[in-house]
Amino acid sequence: MTLPPDPWFPLRTERLLLRDFRAEDYDDVHAYAVDPEVIRYMEWGPNTPEVTRKVLDGWLEAAKVWPRPGVSLAVELVETGAVIGSIRLEIKEPDNFAADIGYSFHRPYWRQGHATEAARAVVGAAFGALGLHRVWAICDVRNRGSWGVMEKLGMRREGLLRQNHMGRDGWRDTCVYAVLAEEWAG
Ligand SMILES: CC(C)(COP(=O)(O)OP(=O)(O)OC[C@H]1O[C@@H](n2cnc3c(N)ncnc32)[C@H](O)[C@@H]1OP(=O)(O)O)[C@@H](O)C(=O)NCCC(=O)NCCS
Repeated sequence: MTLPPDPWFPLRTERLLLRDFRAEDYDDVHAYAVDPEVIRYMEWGPNTPEVTRKVLDGWLEAAKVWPRPGVSLAVELVETGAVIGSIRLEIKEPDNFAADIGYSFHRPYWRQGHATEAARAVVGAAFGALGLHRVWAICDVRNRGSWGVMEKLGMRREGLLRQNHMGRDGWRDTCVYAVLAEEWAG
């Protein structure tokens, strides 16, 4: 596949602006990257200040390049200007027109539909501007919030990978969700 000449972001939704990260987002990013509840099912964290700095620097460096297959965006709450999370879309299988998504949000902003709103915009761009065929996501089967977002988006659970990942608390089961372009209702 060929990426479009112009980036498919920033994206504006009802409450959110999905945009490239900026150096001044450091405090907002570090606030959720140190929270044990946020990183419970993640492969990273809790971050030291140095690790958050390194990750943010990586995002800032990546943002200088277009086209690029993987994009991590800051999720800014327009009302306050705070960065409340991040969302990623990565075209991991360009020959199959397929990408995966991932997201993390700061705990005070959970359960208010923010992740669903952000992910809906990103998946919409995946099937729209990017012309992809399939978008998938994975999460620990115990991560109710994460697969709750996937189900709200209309993604379908395709399977459960048993003990495929050694997490910090032992072997983990991973569920796989996906949606096809022809199924996407927006
Ligand atoms: C997963 C996460 C991104 C969800 O963000 P969110 O903004 O709270 O999600 P939404 O409000 O859009 O929730 C969508 C649906 O998921 C379900 N859900 C979300 N969080 C839930 C929770 N803690 N418990 C049970 N169900 C939950 C609900 O069905 C919810 O819809 P409802 O509120 O209308 O009932 C957030 O909890 C998070 O950042 N977790 C830590 C990082 C992480 O695990 N990321 C995913 C890695 S695979």
